This record gives sequence, C-alpha cells and structure tokens, in this order.
Amino acid sequence: MIEISIKKLIYKKFFFLNKTVIIKGWIKYFRNNKFLILNDGSTIKNLQIVITDILYKKYKKNIGNYVAVSIIGVVKKQLKYKKEIEIICEKIFFYSSPYNIQKTILQKKTHNLEKVREQLHLRFYTNFFSAVTRIRHYISIFIHNYFHKKNFFYIHTPIITKNNSEGTGDMIKVINNKNNKNNCYLSVSGQLEAEAAALSLGKVYTFGPVFRGENSNTFRHLSEFWMIEPEISFFNLDDIIDFSEKFLKKIIKFIINNCEDDLNFLSKKLEEKKKENLFFRLKNILKNKFLKISYTDSINILKKNNFSISWGEDLQSIHERFLVEKYFKNTLIIYNYPKEIKPFYMFLNNDEKTVRAIDILFPKIGEIIGGSQREDRYDVLLNNFKKKSININKLNWYLETRIFGNLPHSGFGLGFDRLVQFITGMDNIRDVIPFPITPNYFY
Ligand code: 4AD
Ligand code: MG
Repeated sequence: MIEISIKKLIYKKFFFLNKTVIIKGWIKYFRNNKFLILNDGSTIKNLQIVITDILYKKYKKNIGNYVAVSIIGVVKKQLKYKKEIEIICEKIFFYSSPYNIQKTILQKKTHNLEKVREQLHLRFYTNFFSAVTRIRHYISIFIHNYFHKKNFFYIHTPIITKNNSEGTGDMIKVINNKNNKNNCYLSVSGQLEAEAAALSLGKVYTFGPVFRGENSNTFRHLSEFWMIEPEISFFNLDDIIDFSEKFLKKIIKFIINNCEDDLNFLSKKLEEKKKENLFFRLKNILKNKFLKISYTDSINILKKNNFSISWGEDLQSIHERFLVEKYFKNTLIIYNYPKEIKPFYMFLNNDEKTVRAIDILFPKIGEIIGGSQREDRYDVLLNNFKKKSININKLNWYLETRIFGNLPHSGFGLGFDRLVQFITGMDNIRDVIPFPITPNYFY
C-alpha cells in the first residue's frame, strides 16, 4: 500500500490499476450520495472516490465540503468513462468536521476576485488561486535552475538598508530601536550589492522581496514585491538585451510545457471573460523577436499619434500600452533614456544626454524588466552623485568598486509578480501573490 498524490495517480493512470493506495486531501463536493470528489492541492484535477452504501451510512454526518480526509482504496477504471480512473473506497478517516461555508468565498456562487481577496486565507482552496500558486512555484524553480546551469551564484542582499539605489520614489521606513539614531529603510533593490559581488564572482543574481513606498494603487503595483536581479560582468547593453529576451522566452516556454493543466483552466476562464486565449498570448511572445526602439524614436511616434509628450518626460502607462498593443503589436525593448529620468548608476552615452538603459514592455502589464549597462567610470559616477544630490558618505563603498577590479557590467530587474501576472493572465497583480501588500492594504 503506498501513499500517492492525485497528480501522480492521474498522470500514471493505469499503472496503479487494482492497487491499493492511500490518498490525503480535501472533499471538494459530494454527489449522488456516492461520489466523493477529492482534491489534494497537487493538481487542479480532482479524483473521484466511490463511497459504498455501508460507508455512506456510517459516515454521512462527517462528509462535507472542504473536510480533510485520508482514503484507503483500490484504483479502478471508471464504469462510465473507461479512460478515467476512480478509487473504490475501503477505509476513510476524517481529520475535520463539516463546517458552514455559507458566509465564505467557498460557497458555490461565483464571486468576483475582489470579494475573494477579502478572505485571503481561504483563497488557496479556489481553483484559480491554487493554479496561480502552482505556476508561481514552477516559475521560481525554473529561474533558480536556469541561473544555476549557467553558473550564476545566488546571492542574498540586505532587506534593511540606508541606501536608496533607485534614487526616486519613497522608501518604507523601518522603526528603529530608540537608541539608534540611524534611519533605516526597506530596500528597493539588491542591485548595488549584487554589482559588488558580480565584480569578483562574475555572474550573480538576487531573487528576493523588495519594497516601494510610492502611493501607487494600480493593477500592476505592490508595495512589497519580488524581484530577480542578475548582474553580469563583461556584459554591455547589447549583451544584456540578448540575455533578457532569451531568459523571458525560456521561462514562458517552460511553463507552457510543464503547467498545462493549470494554464488550461486559467485560459478557459480568460476566454469566458475576455474572449482571449492565454496560450495564444504566451506563444505570441515566443514567436516574435522583441523589437528594439530608442526612447527618442518612441517619443517621435507618440507625438505623431497626438500624444502630448515631449523629449525628456517619462513614458506613462498609456504611452507604453499604445506602443506595445496598438502601434507595434509586439514586445518592445526601449533603450537609451534621458539621463534625468533614470538612476545615477546607468552608463552615460557619448551624447551626454542619454544613458544605456532598457525597459522591456509586455502587452497588458507594460514594464516587466528595467535594466542597464552600469556606469563604470569613477569620475562620471562621482559627477552623477553630485548632480543628483546623493550623499557620497553612504555610497562610498559603491564608488570604490569602480577602483578595485572595475570592469564593464550590466544587469536588470525582472518584476516577478508582473511576470506571474502575465503568464497566468490575471488582471490584477494582487491575485498572483498569496498575501498582497499595497499602500492601502496591509494584511
Ligand atoms: O525598474 P525597477 O525599479 O529597477 C530596479 O529596481 C533596478 N535596480 C533593477 C536592476 O537593474 N537590477 O524595477 C524592476 C522591475 C520593473 O520593471 C517591474 O517589473 C517591477 O520591477 N516593479 C514592480 N512590480 C510590482 N510592483 C511595483 N511597485 C513595482 N515596481 C517595479
Ligand atoms: Mg523601471
């Protein structure tokens, strides 16, 4: 007798025929006083458990939706659908008692996702959120494996810091102990520390939570989100552009090939709601080469299309969406941004007006990656500190990296939650992270 997950049982199907197995999970529902529909979290698919009359009479008071059980039974072919399996139950053990789900998001009536968000702790029981959670896991694991195979080192950078590496936006302050006069904040990015590591280890990446204090309450902003930041020695802007396109495409390909059941479910939901096919959306990203366009050219296109924007201004979400979804209908890599709207650490071009920055824009969610070649010239960097009124005392160590073992290097930050949002087709970023933290909502 072996304990087995529903995923494995369904995947291996007839391999376990006539064998006795143990399965632990939750009752999704019970029908015709006979069929117990079980889910164990391992897959979106449910397993049918046949309850004999004797067992039913004995346990009918214990059976209820979302009650946790373990089942011992024999694997058989279903009578009606011969290609499917079911379990003829021999023994059943109940871990919990039936409870009233009327006032919860688990009742049958379909709720909108905002309502579901009011009971985050129960959200894992829903099909949509368990599917998203599994896909989120697969994306994380793939990313770690991908970097490992390419000889990157995973480094952990501080969460509590005195530095604001992005130089813009507000940081979330950490309440410090009374005697400590230093102000501390939650880090907006691990990049600066990752740079120091890359300059001697070659290739590194971070994958951790970062925090932003801006009051952005949109479908694509969180106050606490997860970011992946590779930092690569000897890479220039073109190298990092190539790398990021390959990286994004590999992730999407992996998920299409490994999360089919969950994607199928989410795709069906998206078709019902918006007549859009999720696989089509994902395969579209794989099919086309990302389009490279300079910031200056994109401003000219926007102007020609009657947007009131001038050179030097940052692109807003409506501009990004116009360019990606209407004008080019393709993933965009916008490069060479004005130095004034980008952080101090980006490499200054010969024109002395633009820096070697990239933003990668996806349909629907806009910016998914922000990156750059880093300024590796000590004097230029020092000058940027002065121009942007950055306190040199706090970042002297960073300046020093341009003396010891300095070299050209580049990196980017991939917004992990935005990536999950795009891959799962969810409208709101709050529906792809278990306990979302936003400016007006703290769990
Ligand atoms: O463009 P950002 O701010 O870049 C950095 O922090 C650099 N230090 C990265 C680097 O070069 N190592 O953020 C990177 C990505 C964005 O492209 C976006 O996908 C995501 O992080 N992001 C957010 N995701 C969710 N909520 C927010 N408030 C986000 N802000 C940025
Ligand atoms: Mg950015």
